[in-house]
Amino acid sequence: MLKESVAEELRIYESRRATPLRLREYFSIGDKHNSDADTLLHSAQFIHTELPIRFARLIRTLNHLPKVLADLAPCTQVRVGFMQSFHELLHSPHPRTPKDEAAFIRLAERIRDRHANTMETMGHALAMMRSRHAHHPLDADFHQSLDRFQTARLAVSVLLNQYIAMHAPRSHWVGIMCDHTSPAAIADEVAAQAAALARLHYGDAPKIIIEGDVMATFLYIPAHLQHILFELLKNAVRATVETHGRKLPAIRITIIAGGEDISIRIADEGGGIPRTVLHKVFDYLFTTAPEKEGRDLPEQDVDPIAGLGHGLSVSRIYARYFGGDLHLESLHGYGTEAFLYLPNSAEAREVLL
Ligand SMILES: Nc1ncnc2c1ncn2[C@@H]1O[C@H](COP(=O)(O)OP(=O)(O)O)[C@@H](O)[C@H]1O
Ligand SMILES: [Mg+2]
Repeated sequence: MLKESVAEELRIYESRRATPLRLREYFSIGDKHNSDADTLLHSAQFIHTELPIRFARLIRTLNHLPKVLADLAPCTQVRVGFMQSFHELLHSPHPRTPKDEAAFIRLAERIRDRHANTMETMGHALAMMRSRHAHHPLDADFHQSLDRFQTARLAVSVLLNQYIAMHAPRSHWVGIMCDHTSPAAIADEVAAQAAALARLHYGDAPKIIIEGDVMATFLYIPAHLQHILFELLKNAVRATVETHGRKLPAIRITIIAGGEDISIRIADEGGGIPRTVLHKVFDYLFTTAPEKEGRDLPEQDVDPIAGLGHGLSVSRIYARYFGGDLHLESLHGYGTEAFLYLPNSAEAREVLL
């Protein structure tokens, strides 16, 4: 019974138009008075209307995944969770007073917690699919449907996390956004993490040099930049160590703040990627990591440095979310350069696909 009524509501909501926001809009909602009760109430009201639409679209992308993936238990579990959140939001009262808002934030937190492991669960589902249906063709449609799912997932998570984080004001931050996001500082932090991981796995790590506009800052979601740089650095570190063994050439991160973009190049001398392989690196399950490097993630104590095969594809989803992009170029036999572009403008708007 419940299932049927939810299905009907989903049909209504998935056809409604979502409202993509600009970085500036997300940021200014809470500027200056970001813990102010009125501001929080306004945000809660917007989210109460917008989030069910984004959840309905997210559930639709799940329904459009190929059956070999969608029918796996972890995938079904994710779908049931999304339906529950959609239902709870729809049947929660529209917040009209600060007291309502105080109740609504608890619902928002519960929903956030329910979906905290979506990425891991979906990664697990993908790994299961690979082992059970090794011969299933992973064509362009398959990758496109996963791109849509990942983008729709971000559309929910950005909105929800922004609202929740607004309750803890910090200078230069509104929610999860920071108008002093420093690519160099983030690169520095992530470089230390990637090097530590490399020492754990390989007993050694290449030097990571950060150069260019190291003083540049911009308005962005630092966690997104962190995520992307960590994936790119893990790849560069792994390629460097596996190609050289001893005497590791440095990895170079160059940051350039241009009029339109913050451009970041990560250059390694890790042997590059053959041209016949290069077009596959953004595929969701493509990896050259051997089994032991951590495909069975849940059983491992140590985080894997590679092996799930969706590091690059998911990073590109993050990069494109506000209109940026991610490319890889390679000189096979020498090294790889990853080019990350993020909008250097508060006017950049969510791309909801
Ligand atoms: N910097 C790089 N140098 C050489 N090969 C790379 C580099 N970055 C990515 N690759 C290739 O692309 C594949 C996919 O990368 P990714 O999506 O991060 O998944 P994973 O790291 O789990 O294999 C890697 O397995 C590797 O073969
Ligand atoms: Mg990787």
